[in-house]
Amino acid sequence: MSYSAADIQAWMVSHLAELLGVETDEVDIHENLENYGLDSAQAMTLVSKLEELLGFQPSPLLLWHYPNIASLSERLAEELVEQSDVQDTGIVKQTSGNAIADIPTLDLQAEAVLDPTIHPGGAVYTPVDKPKKIFLTGSTGFLGAFIIRELLEQTDAELYCLVRASSLQEGKNKLYKNLEQYGIGQDELNPRIIPVIGDLSQPMLGLGAELFQALATNIDTIYHSGALLNYVYPYSALKAANVLGTQEILRLACQIKVKPVHYVSSVAVFESPVYAGKVVKEDDDFSHWEGIFLGYSQTKWVAEKLVKIASDRGLPVTIHRPPLIAGDSQTGIGNTHDFINLMVKGCLQMGYFPDVEYMLDMSPVDYVSKAIVYLSMQPESIGKAFHLQHPNPVSLKVLVDWVSSFGYPVQMLPYDEWQAELIKNAASPDNPLYTLRPFLLERWSEEQLTIPDLYLQARRPKISCEATVKALAGSSISCPPIDSKLFMTYTAYLIESGFLSIAL
Ligand SMILES: NC(=O)c1ccc[n+]([C@@H]2O[C@H](COP(=O)([O-])OP(=O)(O)OC[C@H]3O[C@@H](n4cnc5c(N)ncnc54)[C@H](OP(=O)(O)O)[C@@H]3O)[C@@H](O)[C@H]2O)c1
Repeated sequence: MSYSAADIQAWMVSHLAELLGVETDEVDIHENLENYGLDSAQAMTLVSKLEELLGFQPSPLLLWHYPNIASLSERLAEELVEQSDVQDTGIVKQTSGNAIADIPTLDLQAEAVLDPTIHPGGAVYTPVDKPKKIFLTGSTGFLGAFIIRELLEQTDAELYCLVRASSLQEGKNKLYKNLEQYGIGQDELNPRIIPVIGDLSQPMLGLGAELFQALATNIDTIYHSGALLNYVYPYSALKAANVLGTQEILRLACQIKVKPVHYVSSVAVFESPVYAGKVVKEDDDFSHWEGIFLGYSQTKWVAEKLVKIASDRGLPVTIHRPPLIAGDSQTGIGNTHDFINLMVKGCLQMGYFPDVEYMLDMSPVDYVSKAIVYLSMQPESIGKAFHLQHPNPVSLKVLVDWVSSFGYPVQMLPYDEWQAELIKNAASPDNPLYTLRPFLLERWSEEQLTIPDLYLQARRPKISCEATVKALAGSSISCPPIDSKLFMTYTAYLIESGFLSIAL
């Protein structure tokens, strides 16, 4: 079937409107798609649905080069013509938005430049034991909800939460709904939680000079957990929120009076193949960026470098690097849209897991949030990084054994055979792997490896958390063991929430 650019444009407008739950006339074809705030799963859904229309799979990276509906539909119409002479190989075909060919070499080191005016130099720093006013980003997110719970319990402070919303009331509703979603809401929003309407991707966090100045004067401490988590978008699309947003946080921290910054980074800063197979400790240098392939991980590397530069200029900071964050170990409540849950559901549905050496790099969100808040309050933590890695991770094989013992009919297949099954099963929209297809099957690295290839144990570093566990020794905080009880708790929640329909 041949479609004109106008046909594709109309199709995209109607599907984006449906995905966002808005009217078609509210979709602006010249607006950058990233500004509609699509998460990875929604972006994948859009790309996958486009495949049904076009008959070939457009690379999600096309969104980078042609960021709005007007330009993307023009390009896709051209692609349709080019695709007519592409042979069907049975594997995902790459379009000219090809993962490798089109990625301009990005020098992350050159990106890691902190505005020279951001300096604690002349500002006053009086360490405060008991902060009265805390500024928090990412408070409408998964980890942010649990950090709020901890800060409410461990401090008496007012929590000023940066929220993307059009009014204070909408901001309050968004904060309330998020806490409720994770089972930590109360009858009404705690009056200590105060929304501050703004946006990480804007200069001065979109607050305007007056409010920025007022916060700079009154805030005692900052927790920066906000970021755009999208595993499809390239660096350029995530830079404003994740990199420039962090720069604005550092600006706020240095202006008028010095405020410590507790920054939520990620173990992804060690994703360069240079670290593969090596043990990396909390205080190890993370100077290598070459070969970090995901735009999201690239932004986390650059953002942490900015925080490090600010620290070298004298700003008190602590850095917290979580691995994949799993659900609450007590209630099982977690983020059902995250990659790990979609993968497990997809593998359960197809009945096969890959027989590979893969350690489950995950820590429950209650451990991560408690550790961040406790460590942030220890004066000796200043200037240090912490690894919130699970001290005793288990292998994927152990997970599969547990899953089978719960009564799920699953088996492990040699990796090549599992990939063949994945290609077959991911072709069905009924399988959650369908929307993850570009992520799972596209070849991202120079060696033509897919994401599952790249995350095999041999290609990853071993993240040591020894110093972090030692730093937590004086507290009652320890990472709950990953055992059948924990998996039972998670599975029960996934079934209860309707995410997993297969009954035990
Ligand atoms: N989840 C993991 O497995 C994991 C692993 C390692 C590190 N981390 C890090 O942990 C932190 C929290 O992750 P999460 O799982 O809680 O993510 P999440 O659930 O996606 O929440 C992200 C938060 O950031 C906010 N945000 C995004 N763009 C923004 C913008 N332009 N302006 C203002 N706020 C913005 C979101 O606000 P909206 O509600 O408005 O979208 C939301 O509150 C992130 O820094 C992430 O990089 C997460």
